[in-house]
Formats: sequence, C-alpha cells, structure tokens
Amino acid sequence: MQPPPASATVRVRRADNSDLDDLVALEQRSFDSDHLSRAQYRRHLDSTSARVLVASANHRHFLGTAVLFFRKGSAIARLYSLATQPAARGKGVGSALLQAAIRTAAGRGCRALRLEVRTDNASAIRLYEQLEFRRIGQLPQYYQDGSDGWRYERTLTPADGDSQR
Ligand SMILES: CC(C)(COP(=O)(O)OP(=O)(O)OC[C@H]1O[C@@H](n2cnc3c(N)ncnc32)[C@H](O)[C@@H]1OP(=O)(O)O)[C@@H](O)C(=O)NCCC(=O)NCCS
Repeated sequence: MQPPPASATVRVRRADNSDLDDLVALEQRSFDSDHLSRAQYRRHLDSTSARVLVASANHRHFLGTAVLFFRKGSAIARLYSLATQPAARGKGVGSALLQAAIRTAAGRGCRALRLEVRTDNASAIRLYEQLEFRRIGQLPQYYQDGSDGWRYERTLTPADGDSQR
C-alpha cells in the first residue's frame, strides 16, 4: 500500500459495513492481543454506545481507525483503539483520528476522554501527550500478555466538540 503524500488532506468519517474487512485486517496487524473480532466490529458499527471512525486521504479509502466507547450516564468517553496502516504512519493520520475522536466525544457532551496504552508504546504516548492527554494512572499487568499499561485522560470542553459527528 502506498502511503499518503505529505500534502494529502486526511478526512475522517464514520465507518460502515464496507469497512469491515479493512478494520479486521488492521486490528490483526496492529495489536498482539485483545483483538476486536469482526462480529464485535459489526455490533459497534450499529451501536449508540460506540463510534468507529475511519481515516482516508485522496483515493486511499482506509488509512486507519479509532474506536470510541460511551456509557449511558457517564460523561467519560473511552478511546478503545487507535491504529493506522503501517505504510501510512508518521504522516498525521493518527493525529487526525485522535482529533476527530476528541471532537466526537466532546460533541456528545462528554467532559473527558480516557484511554489505556502500553508503557512501551512510545509513538502512541507521544501522540497522546501532543494532544494534551495527561497520565492519570498505572495499570500493572493490564494486557492479556502481562504487559503494563498507563491510563491517560484528556479534559474536554464544549469548544472541542463537533455536533456534526
Ligand atoms: C500510534 C499510531 C496510531 C500513530 O499513528 P500515526 O499515523 O503514525 O500518527 P501521526 O503520523 O499523526 O504521528 C506520528 C508522528 O508523525 C509526525 N507527523 C505528523 N504529521 C506529519 C506529517 N504531515 N509529516 C511527517 N510527520 C508527521 C508526528 O509529529 C509524530 O511524530 P513523533 O511521534 O516523532 O512526535 C500508529 O503508530 C499505530 O497504529 N501503531 C500501532 C497500533 C498502536 O499502537 N495504537 C495505539 C494503541 S494505544
């Protein structure tokens, strides 16, 4: 797969059923454990308590994805997953997805967005900190393979929101 040119404008849209193959393939390739299955993705596409976002640029239709979860009665949204195609990394796709996730959560009235990340995932941690996520907790042996995690949170304000999403 060709990466997007540096000048390409990354668009982020809501995922639909036609994205399922790409979503499952990227999930398998991006994470060693805790995979979302095709059936889980299918459910999340239709659910009011989840939002699956997809990034594209020019004619490249699938460059990455972000999965958000919401809980009824809770003003804290969770970024469950963020991944970009290996050939498209380092070009702002992850950043565009994360900004869209922030807009989406704030647009639904959430006051914070939380996520968990492996303590050794330096590129993801840098991206989160660049977009004002703060480390709020340690998660010893959090992952299926026994790896440690950190919990991050970003405060959201109505100004972060986008009611179109
Ligand atoms: C973490 C991940 C989502 C980042 O995605 P990405 O598309 O590479 O993210 P970005 O391109 O927006 O940012 C990454 C770097 O590219 C740089 N960058 C951003 N826009 C750029 C552009 N237009 N041109 C060149 N570099 C750019 C950023 O400054 C950042 O650099 P830095 O890390 O040295 O500070 C991706 O590496 C990934 O999918 N990893 C595997 C799955 C994973 O670990 N997900 C996180 C789980 S919590």
